[in-house]
Amino acid sequence: MKVLITAGPTREPIDPVRFLTNRSSGRMGYALAEAFARREEQVLLISGPTQLDIPDHVDFIPVETAQEMYDAVAHYLPKMDAAIFCAAVADYTPVTVAAQKIKKSADTLTLELKKTPDILGSARQVIGFQGYLVGFAAETEDLEQNARTKLERKGCDMIIANNVSRAGIGFDSAENEVLIVEAAENTALPRDTKEHLAQHLADIISERWLRKHGTMS
Ligand code: CTP
Repeated sequence: MKVLITAGPTREPIDPVRFLTNRSSGRMGYALAEAFARREEQVLLISGPTQLDIPDHVDFIPVETAQEMYDAVAHYLPKMDAAIFCAAVADYTPVTVAAQKIKKSADTLTLELKKTPDILGSARQVIGFQGYLVGFAAETEDLEQNARTKLERKGCDMIIANNVSRAGIGFDSAENEVLIVEAAENTALPRDTKEHLAQHLADIISERWLRKHGTMS
């Protein structure tokens, strides 16, 4: 099976020395890449900037912005059997990037932002991906309902949802606790290290993919 995984935050430049980003460590996506590589699947990891080592036996494409991540995904996705969108992609990016460092002058400064491309939301409708599609949902309330709406809206086979309002799990943490939401069922995976969860998720996704497509390619 050929698996594409997006991971990490994106960086949206404001001027030559500043950018907008978020707290994503990339750890969940890298753990998933490692778990699939251990299963001897072919893994392509497309990642924003992180402090992590690239897992062994994984093809790696580094990107910075949401647009760069979109372009890399659009290029490689059609050749993939499964795709897991783990990246914390910036939803907005500055309308213009200042060519020179913005100087401190007025007391307030307003940045105008525009929407970035929704990479997961484009996978089916724009890129035409037909393989097994997995998204993540970071929610602070109504976990199952919000994940189920996302599953349908973005044409996913599975949403892995986590509650980011709980301390010690999710964003920038070593552990996570997730609810797997699929059309027919929900499966709760209790709190564990991201590495252990990634192994469970890789097993479940491989099994679902086999069930949907019959044989491994
Ligand atoms: N995602 C993406 N491209 C974006 C934004 C998000 O591919 N520009 C992917 C993430 O990798 C993740 C899922 O979409 O798999 C999470 O989307 P999220 O931001 O939670 O959902 P939204 O549809 O943006 O809804 P909202 O933020 O309003 O909950």
